[in-house]
Amino acid sequence: MFSSYEKKEKTVTIILDGRSENVPEGVSVAAAVLSTGEKHIRVSPVTGEPRSPFCMMGVCYECLMKIDGEKDRQSCQVEVKEGMKIDRQMEVNGDGK
Ligand code: FES
Repeated sequence: MFSSYEKKEKTVTIILDGRSENVPEGVSVAAAVLSTGEKHIRVSPVTGEPRSPFCMMGVCYECLMKIDGEKDRQSCQVEVKEGMKIDRQMEVNGDGK
């Protein structure tokens, strides 16, 4: 589904959902997470449906992730950095109707 036009030679190491991943340097957190093979980066807090980044330019808010302990960050607007702790937001708080 997701692939990069260019292969980056340099990588950084992030902690994604508690596991170590090497991802391309200089890309957004959303692109970095997608490059690991993850298709969904959060679920709807109301329905639990899986969600993925859509616009990759700060408009749709489908890319919200917990980055370095701060929830609901637009991962397409944050450049990935060495040692970042990134968590997918998989909590469902709504009633699911
Ligand atoms: S993917 Fe649309 S705001 Fe981030």
